[in-house]
Amino acid sequence: MAEKFVLATHNPGKLREMREILGKLGIEVVGPKDLGIDAEVEETGTTFAENAMLKAKAVCRAAKLPAIADDSGLCVDALNGGPGVYSARYGGEGLDDKGRYMLLLNSLRGQSSRKAHFACAIACVFPNGKTLTAEGRCDGTIAFAPMGEGGFGYDPVFFVPEKAKTFAQLTDGEKNEISHRGKALTEFSEKLATYLKK
Ligand code: IMP
Repeated sequence: MAEKFVLATHNPGKLREMREILGKLGIEVVGPKDLGIDAEVEETGTTFAENAMLKAKAVCRAAKLPAIADDSGLCVDALNGGPGVYSARYGGEGLDDKGRYMLLLNSLRGQSSRKAHFACAIACVFPNGKTLTAEGRCDGTIAFAPMGEGGFGYDPVFFVPEKAKTFAQLTDGEKNEISHRGKALTEFSEKLATYLKK
């Protein structure tokens, strides 16, 4: 029987992505809803890695199953690494994705550096207390205006020089190959495969 892991997210896109990747290792990935548990955890960490670990620990405790969580965001050099762990809340509750990236473009007016990177941390916690972690990063710049229709969040303003496109102008496959989350997931599935063989 496939080993069951719970992914600490209500995001159907993340569940689908994780199912596809971990399915290859013979792992069944379920969401908190499938188990009738609450995955809401206050993200009080100061790093992506801390927040991912907080979420994975809480969900592992509630589900009594191995739990995986991720945390990610956009770090802009001219904003001293911000919005960082506050990416989803940048500008306050009233803003949507477009409101947040327009605020970012306004905040960078007149700045000499537009360097930025996306970062993603993944944490996995087993009921025996063992933990696995992985991180991924994608470097780029903040465009001068939004471009592209794909993706979500800050994708229309995150420009990748090697591709000469924003994340929102890439296909899902192209984005996954170079994205912070794609890299973290690849590292994580390699570490998990090694752990499960032991
Ligand atoms: P979370 O890791 O799902 O909590 O995401 C945090 C926030 O970072 C999201 O709400 C987005 O604003 C931003 N973010 C993380 N990854 C991406 C991405 O791949 N593209 C665009 N925005 C992202």
